[in-house]
Amino acid sequence: MRFLPVCAVFLALGAVQAFGAAADGKAVFDAKCKMCHKADGAGMPAMKMRALGSAEVQAKSDADLKKDIIAGNGKMKAVAISEAQATDVVAFIRTLKK
Ligand code: HEC
Repeated sequence: MRFLPVCAVFLALGAVQAFGAAADGKAVFDAKCKMCHKADGAGMPAMKMRALGSAEVQAKSDADLKKDIIAGNGKMKAVAISEAQATDVVAFIRTLKK
């Protein structure tokens, strides 16, 4: 039964990586998104935007969220961040899920 401990190590590494991406994503979010979307992703009512933690936004795929961010979406202009930063920020948006 050498298999189980090996699995546990991989699971632990995976968890650390996922956490790392979300933590990096929070830094990007704080710098580039928080002024409009607010720390908890609730957004500003005056701008009529959906909360990033809402079921509607969370239902979008990672690829769609990245596209919204890099290419812009409706009233939101494209945000100048790298592909890797967009991946991290999407990981952070997933942590906002209600
Ligand atoms: C200048 C203000 C502003 C900034 C900065 C901004 N956003 Fe937005 N964002 C908006 C507005 C307004 C909308 C709603 C657009 C619409 O529905 O027409 C939006 C929509 C979105 C959506 C789509 C939500 C939906 O309803 O499907 C995502 C995802 C998103 N923003 C993520 C981000 C991320 C991540 C960043 C930072 C990299 C960011 N935004 C920076 C204003 C902003």
